[in-house]
Amino acid sequence: MRTIEEQGYRFEEWLTPSDIAADVQQVAERISADYKDKEPLFVVVLNGAFVFAADLVRALKDVRCEITFIRVSSYWGMSSTGKLEFIVPLQQVVENRDVIIVEDIVDTGLTIHQLKAHMRAQGALSTRVATMLFKPNKLEYEDAKPDYVGRELTDEFVVGYGLDFDGFVRNLDAIYKVKQ
Ligand code: IMP
Repeated sequence: MRTIEEQGYRFEEWLTPSDIAADVQQVAERISADYKDKEPLFVVVLNGAFVFAADLVRALKDVRCEITFIRVSSYWGMSSTGKLEFIVPLQQVVENRDVIIVEDIVDTGLTIHQLKAHMRAQGALSTRVATMLFKPNKLEYEDAKPDYVGRELTDEFVVGYGLDFDGFVRNLDAIYKVKQ
């Protein structure tokens, strides 16, 4: 099993690149079935979701998709600040569009809760959420329960495949769990 060290913490490989590929494929198949011949707008939440989104959209079949990006921040180090800041605002018109928010991980759900309210206020027809990872035990906002999930985990801190630790290690090809 591969391990890495980052800022004095040890992390162990949890999902290998082939585990991740299988999870992404499963999510892509479900979205492809639900949005066949539709034109959803994928709103990718930067920075973390860029790796998952790149794999996900390329695995879709018969979905005419448009992709846009927003950047929000609610996390510093290993714990949430509880506040959402729009660093790159939504630049696409979502009115009358079927929106799919793409996240790397849903933790407390605050990010998704606020983004869904934002999409609603902007007149989106529907808003669903696709996330690589979901921590159901930590969910604090019921409306933030994701529709498409690659893999669930408990409340461990994970990095890699887009997920960072203070800005670093997003480039790892696997997902690593912090070793307690
Ligand atoms: P939420 O708003 O509490 O659901 O947090 C969502 C955001 O927190 C994600 O988009 C991540 O950027 C960050 N986050 C939550 N858990 C982790 C983790 O285990 N590793 C890295 N980032 C995380």
